[in-house]
Amino acid sequence: MVDELGLFAGVAEEIFQNTKPYRELMMKYNCAMLEVKTKLDVLNSQLGVEHESSPFESIHCRIKTPSSVVEKLKRRGFPITLNSIEENLNDVAGIRVICSFIDDIYSLSERLCAQDDVKVIEVKDYIKNPKKNGYRSLHLILEIPIFLLNEKKFMRVEVQFRTIAMDFWASLEHKVRYKKEICDAEAISSELKSCAEEINALDVRMQEIKRKIDYNV
Ligand code: GTP
Ligand code: MG
Repeated sequence: MVDELGLFAGVAEEIFQNTKPYRELMMKYNCAMLEVKTKLDVLNSQLGVEHESSPFESIHCRIKTPSSVVEKLKRRGFPITLNSIEENLNDVAGIRVICSFIDDIYSLSERLCAQDDVKVIEVKDYIKNPKKNGYRSLHLILEIPIFLLNEKKFMRVEVQFRTIAMDFWASLEHKVRYKKEICDAEAISSELKSCAEEINALDVRMQEIKRKIDYNV
């Protein structure tokens, strides 16, 4: 039997990829992503000069691919249209900021959220409230204005803040999650969960050492 939804999704993906309105929408997400990235770069430079060490180690930007846009709309039962993308998806434009220390995550994110052109739509603090599997990160959904030829438009951007250690953990857990057949999946999950706790303990200890060095106590 032909999977009608699957077939439709395939067609939709093709239409999305090759039409100007879709490319225009993605261009807008890209502009919003660059705006937020620039804000983070500016904060990083200034905090770097003031504190003699930059708050983030690296920053990665990505726009969701057409197939992953269609897959997510389909999985969540939303219409596969351009309006639906804007209404229902918060993570078409995504930025991941990797910091060395937990304090840096909060000082960067608080300063970003305090800027008067940034609208904070949602904050998910999986550092204070980790997921059951041990996942930790701070997620922000932001809305930011972009200035186009004839309009000012608010676009959504997802920003994820992690320490190097949290990112290391999330990359491995992501691999496990998307691998179809895993021997002893339960044992691996519990091993990962225990690694997450150890990683967190390490993050907290490293933070304490840094505080002692910074404040000379
Ligand atoms: P998505 O549909 O996956 O976007 O989830 P959501 O809309 O419920 O949002 P949430 O903030 O929980 O997760 C957003 C993103 O964070 C995901 O797309 C992943 O990049 C990352 N993420 C969330 N939970 C996990 C997890 O348990 N493990 C890993 N490796 N990444 C996660
Ligand atoms: Mg996502």
